[in-house]
Amino acid sequence: MKRPFPQLIELPAAPVNGNPVSGLTSIHAARRRGPYGSAKYRGNCGGYLIKDLITYFRARRVLDPMTGSGTCRDVCRELGVPCTSMDVRYGQDAADPHLYEALPPVDFVWLHPPYYRQIVYNDDPKCLSNAPTLDAFLDRMQLVLRNCRSVLNRHGKIAVLIGGYSHHGRYMPLPHLLVERARREGLWLACTEIIRLQYGNTSSTKTYRSSFIPGLHDQCLVFERTTR
Ligand SMILES: C[S@@+](CC[C@H](N)C(=O)[O-])C[C@H]1O[C@@H](n2cnc3c(N)ncnc32)[C@H](O)[C@@H]1O
Repeated sequence: MKRPFPQLIELPAAPVNGNPVSGLTSIHAARRRGPYGSAKYRGNCGGYLIKDLITYFRARRVLDPMTGSGTCRDVCRELGVPCTSMDVRYGQDAADPHLYEALPPVDFVWLHPPYYRQIVYNDDPKCLSNAPTLDAFLDRMQLVLRNCRSVLNRHGKIAVLIGGYSHHGRYMPLPHLLVERARREGLWLACTEIIRLQYGNTSSTKTYRSSFIPGLHDQCLVFERTTR
């Protein structure tokens, strides 16, 4: 079995427009992760997409309900934007509405959940990576979206980074399923989905006997309220 050559791809030209963030298009291809969070934290993402979105949406207060190693927290610190971070590993369940009661309104939420059971983070039943079924995962994600929406300013945005993967031979189209759950919570896509190319994925160095089309990206879905 041969490892395919990584091909250099040239992105299509983007139309000139008023977007102040150079290079922010529907494809995000940052090869480096930047000095944010920890590369050793499984399933982590780099900081540049978060930085681009916070800058583009001019966010002045951020909520990061599943902080992991703190990539979003570190980006906010650099930008001088106040950020509230939580994680179930510190005993904070983002699906619990009580956690949000004392929070000030925010205008940007960065939500990077487990991709269902792709990586199991711990054995806490409240951790979304322990959801017993796909529906249970989506039900709890819907609760998290409801909670985030409850503290969102009128023009605020919720950015969810999530990707699909195969679970016991069945493909899990998590971004697509989540769009429907968000709609039920009065949330709608605020812009194009952003395809984030995943450089340095653990799986990209592995060899598999089975045949499949490798997924090299996840998606960032940016939601806003349908009614303001
Ligand atoms: C994909 S990782 C996030 C990585 C993060 N972007 C970083 O900078 O390292 C998903 C995180 O969600 C957390 N998590 C899972 N279920 C949760 C819940 N119910 N409430 C809060 N955090 C949760 C996990 O502990 C894990 O840290």
